[in-house]
Amino acid sequence: MKAFVRHSYGSPDVLTLTDAERPQPAQGEVLVRVRATSVNPYDWHHLRGQPYVARLMPGGLGFGRPKLTVLGCDIAGQVEAVGAGVTRFRPGDDVFALVEQGGFAEYAAVQETLLAPKPANLSYEQAAAVPMAAVTALLALRDAGRLEPGQRVLINGASGGVGTFAVQIAGALGAKVTGVCSPGNVDLVRSIGADEIIDYRAEDFSRQEQRYDLLIDIAGSRSVSASRRVLTPTGTFVVVGGPAGRWLRPADRMLAALATGPFVSQRMVVADSVGRADKAPLLAALTELIETGQVTPVIDRIYPFADIPAAVRYQEAGHAPGKVVISV
Ligand SMILES: NC(=O)c1ccc[n+]([C@@H]2O[C@H](COP(=O)([O-])OP(=O)(O)OC[C@H]3O[C@@H](n4cnc5c(N)ncnc54)[C@H](OP(=O)(O)O)[C@@H]3O)[C@@H](O)[C@H]2O)c1
Repeated sequence: MKAFVRHSYGSPDVLTLTDAERPQPAQGEVLVRVRATSVNPYDWHHLRGQPYVARLMPGGLGFGRPKLTVLGCDIAGQVEAVGAGVTRFRPGDDVFALVEQGGFAEYAAVQETLLAPKPANLSYEQAAAVPMAAVTALLALRDAGRLEPGQRVLINGASGGVGTFAVQIAGALGAKVTGVCSPGNVDLVRSIGADEIIDYRAEDFSRQEQRYDLLIDIAGSRSVSASRRVLTPTGTFVVVGGPAGRWLRPADRMLAALATGPFVSQRMVVADSVGRADKAPLLAALTELIETGQVTPVIDRIYPFADIPAAVRYQEAGHAPGKVVISV
């Protein structure tokens, strides 16, 4: 099979198109013929081995050599074969998953417990846009944020992969949604259901009068202490991401929020989709929102498989409105 493999840290140039051996599904695993995948910041953090501090962490990027050789954490495709003990899937089933690695290849062996049936109303490309970004948005709003109907939520970074899902999911959960984005994405963010928009070039969201029950901070464009000003005294601050850097960023924001928590009246929490074990129930919850028309993936560009390095480069630039998808 064809796969993009890498054995060292570096730019997208280290991704090499290779003839690799097709994986065999082990006990409890499903062999998926990957029909589409998508690019996330997760991929270029692993690719570059940055922030460096993440190379040292247990379960992190890998000290010295990269831990993952085939990147790609979003998978949509068809079951090709099943390993011993697999009961929920059989060859021919359409599936999608959030995996640790393996999406940038024609086949991937995936634990049965990670897989969910693909939403019936989505193409493979649309389904591949969902796992990492939408699971993160759902975790941030529903679980970390404990969002309730009628509450006001501010989504900073509303036009990107996570943000376009967060705006829609917050609306589906009954919240009043304000999205922060650049002027070019105002129409997009309004079209997916934001009640109010703040153009970050014209206005600093942290200096407004309005107070919110929940801040989903995806862009991390203002300091934690400045951002916190827009919350009610009992509001919740959920850190999702922030500007990337070589040494510590964006982990510094997560640490700053957690360190502030004990000293302020607001809840300060971090959304973590990567470390979360029970991913299939999250995909099932998203499927319900998608199949009832409440959430639709926003796709900026679809690249062919051979152009994965270009797709990663484009996503890493940080201004894709919606998701960057690969058709395999
Ligand atoms: N915690 C987790 O488990 C988890 C999971 C997934 C992602 N993340 C993190 O979440 C972040 C976003 O991921 P993503 O997939 O959504 O990335 P993305 O698709 O590249 O989106 C980033 C968005 O940030 C916006 N942005 C840039 N500067 C901004 C500013 N000053 N104010 C408001 N918005 C601004 C960009 O919009 P414009 O083009 O309009 O500027 C862009 O839409 C990354 O830091 C990523 O590492 C965390």
